[in-house]
Amino acid sequence: MGKPTKTDVLIVGAGHAGAALACALRRKGFAGSIILSNDEAHLPYERPPLSKACLLGVPSIDKLLLREQDFWKRANIDILTGCRVAAIDPGRNVAKLGNGRSIQFSWCVLATGGRARALDCPGADLSGIYRLRTFDDMLALHDALSSAERLTVIGGGYIGLEVAATARALGKQVDVVETQSRVLSRSTSRVVSTFLENEHRRHGVRLHMERSIAAIEGEDRALTVQLSDGTCLFTDLVLAGIGIDAETALAEAAGIACHAGVLVDSAFRSSAPNVLAIGDCARHPNDFAGGLWRLESVQHAEDSANIAADTILGRTVSYHDVPAFWSDQYDFRLQSAGIAREADDMVVRGDTERGPFSVVYLREGRIIAIDAVNAPREFIAGRRLIAEGASVDRDRLADSGVPLRALA
Ligand code: APR
Repeated sequence: MGKPTKTDVLIVGAGHAGAALACALRRKGFAGSIILSNDEAHLPYERPPLSKACLLGVPSIDKLLLREQDFWKRANIDILTGCRVAAIDPGRNVAKLGNGRSIQFSWCVLATGGRARALDCPGADLSGIYRLRTFDDMLALHDALSSAERLTVIGGGYIGLEVAATARALGKQVDVVETQSRVLSRSTSRVVSTFLENEHRRHGVRLHMERSIAAIEGEDRALTVQLSDGTCLFTDLVLAGIGIDAETALAEAAGIACHAGVLVDSAFRSSAPNVLAIGDCARHPNDFAGGLWRLESVQHAEDSANIAADTILGRTVSYHDVPAFWSDQYDFRLQSAGIAREADDMVVRGDTERGPFSVVYLREGRIIAIDAVNAPREFIAGRRLIAEGASVDRDRLADSGVPLRALA
């Protein structure tokens, strides 16, 4: 074993959060050395198109790259692709790589993201069952879809619904199976779920709500999906989009405090003094959620990266960004801001049948969250009102003729 490589900042994971941190450090004037390590074989790329444009067209990593190869060189950011960090020792500031090399760091930032949950029903290990988290996952799904006619999607969340919409655009027969009584129940209200369900049905998707998977059957490939009510779906391939779990294995093995995510403070510091965690894997104090929260979004990846860069630069900045999410399906875009979990009231504005419309969530008269369907201006104004913790006149809010920005 050779001498350890030394670096000022070791970033573990080059998804949106890890890549954004490296860029933010340079933008803010950090002159030290940065290693960005990634167990994927690619340069940092955009994930949102994986469930949409990529599946529709001819996938190419070049079109997805967050930055050209040259950028990383010019910025003097050392990217290790196809390189797994196997262990970190926060006491000695050393990371061990999968290839046996060691890295001595001043700061280590965990941007390890999340792992797609695996199905655990009988037959879950058959071939023909896919997940969608990485570019390589997308390539495998793209390949399988090209020769398939029937797709069964398990999970009516962001991934499941986006892939269902894309597969319908490709002319595939699509069944979606969801255990809950409505789609996207983790993230939105019944009004929005109903709109989404209607749109999917209108586009020919068969929804099977409140059903679990009894078994997936086939010789060596998945051929049928048996539902809990006895329904048997014949299929050519299965996509499981049943959520992600925070990737905390490295942190846990290093003795860093974790609980459904790496626990961090509002500067994204973990329980180990020189280890930070950002993005999907970080369970952080979130003012808008009213407690510890884990956010899965590009916007949070970037916001948390910005704060972590300040922490490394010795600046005291606390995280206080309004959470925001979006999803594109068919011809609509759903944009959401804030966390509606503790809402005690809500106001629906616009046409919930075909859109555009928005749903504004309130708590004690203050706007805490918004969902906007094909209503980008409402979304932008709503996000500002959430940031301001604005109280609004409910009657005016209920009048869709009054633009949200006029209520600010
Ligand atoms: N059978 C059927 N449905 C299930 C099962 C199951 N065994 N287990 C979970 N579900 C349903 C959940 O009820 C939920 O509606 O799967 C859905 C998962 O939805 P999300 O939590 O939104 O997760 P997913 O769609 O996988 O997206 C994961 O990837 O694109 C990102 O940021 C996006 O946070 C999202 C993440």
